[in-house]
Parts: sequence; structure tokens; C-alpha cells
Amino acid sequence: MPSKINRRSFLKFSLAGIFSAIMGKFTKSQAAAAGSDIYMPRQLITKDSSSSRTIMWQSRNPHASLRVQIRDAAGNVKNYMGSGGLFQDDGEAFYINRVLVNNLKPQSQYTYQIVQDGATTPWYPLSTSGSDTMEALIFPDSQCSDGYETWKKVASGAFNANPNINLFINMGDLVDNGEAAYQWRQWFNAIGAYMPSRIFVPLMGNHETYDLNWKCRVPHAFLNFFAVPDNNSNGFQRYYYSFDYGPVHFIVLNTQFEELDPIKPGMMEQQLQWLRQDVEATEKPWRVVLMHKDVINYDNLGSPEPLADIDEVGRRFMPYFDELGIHLVFTAHQHTYRRHNHIFNFEPSDHGPVYIDTGVAGNCRYGVPRTERFDKVMLPQPETDNYLTIRATSEDIIVQCYLPDGQVMDSFVLTNSKQV
Ligand SMILES: [Fe+2]
Ligand SMILES: [Fe+2]
Repeated sequence: MPSKINRRSFLKFSLAGIFSAIMGKFTKSQAAAAGSDIYMPRQLITKDSSSSRTIMWQSRNPHASLRVQIRDAAGNVKNYMGSGGLFQDDGEAFYINRVLVNNLKPQSQYTYQIVQDGATTPWYPLSTSGSDTMEALIFPDSQCSDGYETWKKVASGAFNANPNINLFINMGDLVDNGEAAYQWRQWFNAIGAYMPSRIFVPLMGNHETYDLNWKCRVPHAFLNFFAVPDNNSNGFQRYYYSFDYGPVHFIVLNTQFEELDPIKPGMMEQQLQWLRQDVEATEKPWRVVLMHKDVINYDNLGSPEPLADIDEVGRRFMPYFDELGIHLVFTAHQHTYRRHNHIFNFEPSDHGPVYIDTGVAGNCRYGVPRTERFDKVMLPQPETDNYLTIRATSEDIIVQCYLPDGQVMDSFVLTNSKQV
């Protein structure tokens, strides 16, 4: 395994990164409409995706009137007013704007446009979820050193092959350096054609917490770019959250206690208390966790110590997952696809949560050894990029792993919380 220093400094000498940094701020291709001051329009997940949506975008200048117009299938138009604020990071300053759209009807097709003073975007599709089904794309770490060309290739392949999937998840480490403004621009730009018309579910990874000197900081950019659902926390809003989509209750957890504790302590205590309350309150048939870091300690394989194969993230979270009846846990961070299957009480089992380390959607790879005990499925080595789909009804969940060209590499079904 590479050291943390290697992971952190992955992009330090990237020529593509230096070139892009010189290229300046927003580019014309990122504006939603020629001549407008509306950049990077996007849909963000809300707690209840059947009735609401958050629309966000950026602008160079402040604007007096920020609004979103929603048009239903009958042509009725409703206006929602929004707000914006100055954002400053990495020597740049611009405005981040958002509008909460609510009181929508479940399982309905709408279109929306952003209206900023006199300027408008095109009308984009916006669909609300029903109660019976859920489909999502899952992208592992997308951090890149190639101008985010690899991320663009993986994401566009997945979006084009699945034009009807309304929801997409990124498992964290979206960018290699969370303070580098040029990397965020490249990340957004790579999927700018797809983002306005699909719901985005972001996870915070450890790389979102790194500053330009590769030291940990409060992840200022990530927290401002993505207005995710409220978690009722005083100090850790947008660090972890949950939402419902169809028959699934998704719980998005934050595994960055090692990075954050020295600069902002107390997250885990709040998060674990919230986790129990959140899961106990749901009546959805499926409970699915999304979290950045995996639960297997690949640095420690073969150690005679008890529990050596389970890392600190696993030791802290897995007892809760066992107790709370979590069905499925998606992780990332190792940049390799590993299906661990059921793990219960820290041991491989025929019951308990199914764990899947989702792989890699960027051009950064690590040499990760196999553990026969927990890696029940891994892809042929050397490994290339991949993405996943998850499809759920109240009866079953189907997960599939694809290469960017659409080749299926792994597929499994959970039925009544059991793998078949
Ligand atoms: Fe990563
Ligand atoms: Fe990571």
C-alpha cells in the first residue's frame, strides 16, 4: 500500500493540474447559457426525494433576484425564491446560490429553469421518486491527475448507458485536493452536461479535507458546494445525512474522524447517536449505508492480532450496523472493487450487512493485496475504472459492477435481506 504521503501528494507535480490552474476561473463552457452568469447548475438530494429538490449554481457576481421556475406536465409554472452567498477559497471569490423546491408530487415529471435577474437557463428535466422502486448509479473515488478526463469518461459512459437513472452517488474523494479550485472546476465541468438533470448524492472523502499544503482542514469547498439534507447537528451540518428514495433509506456517513478530530473534534459522538435515532425512525424496507472508507485493514493482513483485518472505521461503525439491521454498506477509498459479502460481529457470515468496496472512477490506483477471508469477489488485475448500479424494489436489491464500456463484471441480488 502506498503511504498517506503518496496519496496526498498524488497531484503535486501533475502537469495537467498546473496547466489548468493557469487557465483561470470559470470558462464559457461551464456557463449554463451563453452570456449568462449561471454556472454549474445542479440538483442536490433532499431528505424526501418524492416531494422536494435543492437546485444550486454559481455566479461571478451577486444578483438581486434568484429563483427557480418549476413546470409540471400540464404546463403549470410555479416560482421558488432562493438565496446566495459569497464563497472564497484558494484565492478565488464567487457566489453560490440555491433554491429549495418543495411540495412536489411523488413519481412526477417536471422541468425547471433557473432565473437570475433577467437571465435564464434552458428547461431541465426534474423527476420525483415514487415509493416502489429505486435506481442509482454509484461512482467510486473520482480524484484525477489528468484534468479529470478519466472521471469524464467513466461518468459519461455510465450516464449514456443509463439515461433513465435519475440519481447518482459519488463515494468521496471527488477531487484529489479539496482546496484546489481548478480541480473542482474540472470535476464539475467533466459532468456539466449531465448534472442539471439528475440528483446528486455527494460523500465527503479524506481528500476533501486536505488543504493546498496537504494538511487537514475543515472541508470548506465541499461543505459549500453541496447543500445536503439537514442532520440537526450544531457543528457538523453537511458532514453526514440521510434521505429516502423509493423503498430505500440511505444513510450517508462520515468516516473522516482521523482527519477531522485534531481540528474539529466531536463528530463521531454526535454521528453515532444520530445514526441510531435516524435508522430507528425509518419504516423503509431497505437500509443502505454509504461511507467513504472501507472496513478492511489491508495494511495489516496476516497479523496475528485479534480483529487485525478490521480497520478502525469498521471497529467503530460495524457494531451499529449489526445492531440496527443495515442491509448493505457501500464503501470506497481503496480504489479497488472488492465484494466482502456478509460480515457480522467482525467475521464473515451468512447473515448481517453485505459490504462492497466500490472501486475507482479516476486515474489514481493503489496496490491493494487480497484477503481471502473477506474479499469474496475482486476484479481481474490490473484493475481498470468501474461504476455500479443499484436497483431496488421492496422485495429485492440488485447490484451490478460495470466497466466504463458497459461490460458487467459482478452482479448479485439481496432478497429479504439475504443474498441468493
Ligand atoms: Fe481516494
Ligand atoms: Fe480516500
